[in-house]
Amino acid sequence: MSEAVSAAQRRKSRFVYAVAAISALGGMLFGYDIGVISGALLFIKKDFALSPFLQGVVVSALLVGAATGALIGGNLSDRFGRRRLLIVAAIVFIVGAIGSGLSTSTGMLIAARFVLGLAVGGASLVVPLYIAELAPPKVRGALVSLNQFMITVGILVAYLVNNALASYGAWRWMLALAAVPAILLGVGMLFLPETPRWLVSHHLFDKARSVLGRTRQEHQVEDELREISSIEEQERREARGWGELVQPWVRPMLIVGVGLAIIQQITGINTIIYFAPSLLNKTGLGASAAIFDTVGIGIVNVLMTIVALALLDRVGRRPLLLAGLAGMVVSVALLGLVYMLPTLKGAIGYAALFFIMAYVACFAFSLGPGVWLMISEIYPLKVRGSAMSLATIALWLTNVVVALTFLSMIDALGATATFWLYAGIGILAWIFIYFLVPETKGRSLEEIEAELRERTGRPGK
Ligand code: BGC
Repeated sequence: MSEAVSAAQRRKSRFVYAVAAISALGGMLFGYDIGVISGALLFIKKDFALSPFLQGVVVSALLVGAATGALIGGNLSDRFGRRRLLIVAAIVFIVGAIGSGLSTSTGMLIAARFVLGLAVGGASLVVPLYIAELAPPKVRGALVSLNQFMITVGILVAYLVNNALASYGAWRWMLALAAVPAILLGVGMLFLPETPRWLVSHHLFDKARSVLGRTRQEHQVEDELREISSIEEQERREARGWGELVQPWVRPMLIVGVGLAIIQQITGINTIIYFAPSLLNKTGLGASAAIFDTVGIGIVNVLMTIVALALLDRVGRRPLLLAGLAGMVVSVALLGLVYMLPTLKGAIGYAALFFIMAYVACFAFSLGPGVWLMISEIYPLKVRGSAMSLATIALWLTNVVVALTFLSMIDALGATATFWLYAGIGILAWIFIYFLVPETKGRSLEEIEAELRERTGRPGK
């Protein structure tokens, strides 16, 4: 290969990585905003004299906002473009972060957290979609999962900020600091392009060709443009939008996507991400030790996500999902067992911490990145926005249910039974993935779609 060609190629991959990194700031905001509240809440509840119920409302206002953001985000991004939606999301992030930092009443705080949720939900949907549509197939897994990596970084940064500001009780700063990455996201997106797939679906072929020219090797540009156009034209002849979602050939993938989204949440990851300090506290660890250990959990989460980035495009999505979920089931079952041994005091705290970390590690290399990745790549172009929307809504609603029920389940059933219930759900989820989820590694989004059409007897190319 001549030097000029390889220099051009290097420039292109740098560009693709920059695109992924900037848009993944949306993931960082997602992580920060869910991670920060556990620490901030300890102070807010005193300042605003919040009842336990109102504390729950403050936490879940963001999750309900996120489900709403996912509901409207898909359609808007199909209509106005992925890029524009992310710019709007950045502005909403800024308003929500500053608004929650300046809240003078519980009502204002709940409203600001809801607004923030709209941006979290919109970004959680559109960032993976945006990256998936811009990335070359060979590295799509790693690039889309950069978003999940940034989610875990956001959670870790939030835990660290909580730790650092806790002694000042500075909850307003904890919440308002999220405006910083939001500004970076907004400004960064102004310089990034729209995706070729969205451009083609809006007949902007020259622009699509030029974006492909910046992200693909010379000889791939025309082929890929043809491939996108042919799928696009085929879809044009068919119904579109939400109506399309109920068509028989889309249905199997709809079940897979929504199923995966529910599985990511119902297997219990956020019982740990939101409540780890109180869980550890229960085992006899002191409050500050518990908060400190939470930072350790955040670090494991980040590190194992890096492992996933390296493996998703090599071993494939399915093996990682199946292995990770199996590990989660075993760890959570053992965690349940630990809570049966209340007499072991100190040691029991560390055993619990160990299994919690093992559980988070297994999630981080499988369901964490894998689910967001797969729901961004298994849907046909025309319905991609709305179908991903549906999966993402399901994900956030399940998130709300877990967040609202977990503590009362522990009260009613005890920790052991609760964790064993999660282990049982994990086994069912494993069976679902084993039988229904296809492999998508290394194939273009159009190839995946063409295969799905054939499988369901709708070739029509
Ligand atoms: C999930 C979040 C979770 C986070 C933990 C994300 O993929 O959607 O609910 O808190 O991973 O890293």
